[in-house]
Amino acid sequence: MNILILQSSPRAKGNTAWMAEEYKNAAEAAGHQVTLVNVAKKKIAGCLACEYCHGKGEGACVQKDDMQELYPLLKEAEALVLATPIYYFTFNSQMQAPIHRIYSMMTPPNVKKMALLTSSYSPDVYDAAIAQYKYLCNFFKAEDTGIVTAKIDEQKTEETAQKVKALINNL
Ligand SMILES: Cc1cc2nc3c(=O)[nH]c(=O)nc-3n(C[C@H](O)[C@H](O)[C@H](O)COP(=O)(O)O)c2cc1C
Repeated sequence: MNILILQSSPRAKGNTAWMAEEYKNAAEAAGHQVTLVNVAKKKIAGCLACEYCHGKGEGACVQKDDMQELYPLLKEAEALVLATPIYYFTFNSQMQAPIHRIYSMMTPPNVKKMALLTSSYSPDVYDAAIAQYKYLCNFFKAEDTGIVTAKIDEQKTEETAQKVKALINNL
């Protein structure tokens, strides 16, 4: 399966990046083709709501920033994994920007499976992120293959690694 992981923490050696790497390694070991993109390192602006994409643009976004690298990957992806730290009780802005820019294609055409990897300091801060993720699964007509959360004492632990690896069985 062609898997695209969007990882949105600016901390390259942080907890979300670690979860995304664990997922990638396990998926590749199972024979999947995986592309991992650190969207926090990309220049991706918010959606302008100009509707160019739904008119003259015929699906193309008017903004020519690093999102242009992601569109072909999103077109090919059969599974989409969102890996985000929790900032103020939801996805961070580095994740929201590329999600909003999917608007030009409305839904990634081949995505059939999704997963959410997310980390935070505190427990019980995941409701908003999980709600958005589940709305996205429904909107993209993709199956939720699972969610792994890691609060401060669950980060980079063997137990969390096992939970992340177990998601691959649902692909
Ligand atoms: C701007 C900002 C907002 C944050 N908001 C929350 C929050 O609402 N709840 C929480 O538990 N942790 C919050 N945190 C902590 C991060 O979610 C936590 O450190 C997470 O593990 C960072 O992931 P990373 O190591 O992948 O960067 C926040 C951190 C930052 C920088």
